Amino acid sequence: MSIEKISWEYKGITLLQNVTKETLDVMPNFQIRDDDIVVASFPKTGTNWLLDIIGKILRAAGKTDSSTDSLIAPGLLEAKLPTATQPGYVTLADMPSPRLVVTHLPIQLAPNGISKPQNKVKILVPMRNPKDTAVSLFHFGKKILELMGMTDDVPWEEFAHNFTNGKVLYGPFEDHVLGWWQMRDDPHFLFLKYEDMKKDLLSAVKTIVAFLEFNLDEPTIKGIAEASTFTNMKADMDNSKLAERQMIARKGIIGDWKNMFTPDQSKAFDAWYEEKLAGTGIMFDFE
Ligand code: A3P
Repeated sequence: MSIEKISWEYKGITLLQNVTKETLDVMPNFQIRDDDIVVASFPKTGTNWLLDIIGKILRAAGKTDSSTDSLIAPGLLEAKLPTATQPGYVTLADMPSPRLVVTHLPIQLAPNGISKPQNKVKILVPMRNPKDTAVSLFHFGKKILELMGMTDDVPWEEFAHNFTNGKVLYGPFEDHVLGWWQMRDDPHFLFLKYEDMKKDLLSAVKTIVAFLEFNLDEPTIKGIAEASTFTNMKADMDNSKLAERQMIARKGIIGDWKNMFTPDQSKAFDAWYEEKLAGTGIMFDFE
């Protein structure tokens, strides 16, 4: 069994079966509100880390009293989580503002309110080097299948090969990243690299607070950064009531790819990266 058995392809993009054609048909017209905060990411790039930080900021700013768990409860905009009764967008439609909207969709399938943003909507795009992203997704895929009572027997070698050939959830990776990267000069967008957040979380939290236009004092910002380190978040995630959330915190490091890639696999990835992403202005740290 592999993840391919529970995925399908739509316009060249590999999606889990919990994202349906009916959903994708209505997605362009999903109403984005002026005060929505959107996180648009490729899977395993630090989405939940960023969501948690935003949740903490909203609470500190007095904008919500929901717990982190219920803030992310609708899950992905486009998907029906295994533990949910309906797709995220249906739940979100009835949620009070400010909403946190999370999507892994590539820009061309995202709501018009995100791909052509108006007014004050804020869109944050986490990014992570593709080697660590691939390793993280490889482990996560196994956990998803386990949650569904199945076993994933795809070897790493095959998974790594598929990743660079576009046969990966929400892939091709390069199209996904480049699609969102087109928006880098649009003031509705903030791009955040996983590696930068790891290296200087306090600065990242300050950047996010400023982008969201909240006024928080220095001790509050420091407190948010401290509570958002991997160690501090892992306990919270592992103890979550939501099965999906318990699967998120794994290693939380830069460079775990070195534990998985053979020298040949690393070379093949470098060649793919050079061909697809060099010269685009996107620079990832791999160390
Ligand atoms: P690893 O599998 O490499 O450990 P996403 O939320 O997009 O699914 O991303 C999950 C990845 O982010 C996992 O990477 C997870 O461990 C990492 N992560 C989650 N919280 C983190 C934190 N506070 N600091 C650093 N990494 C974190």
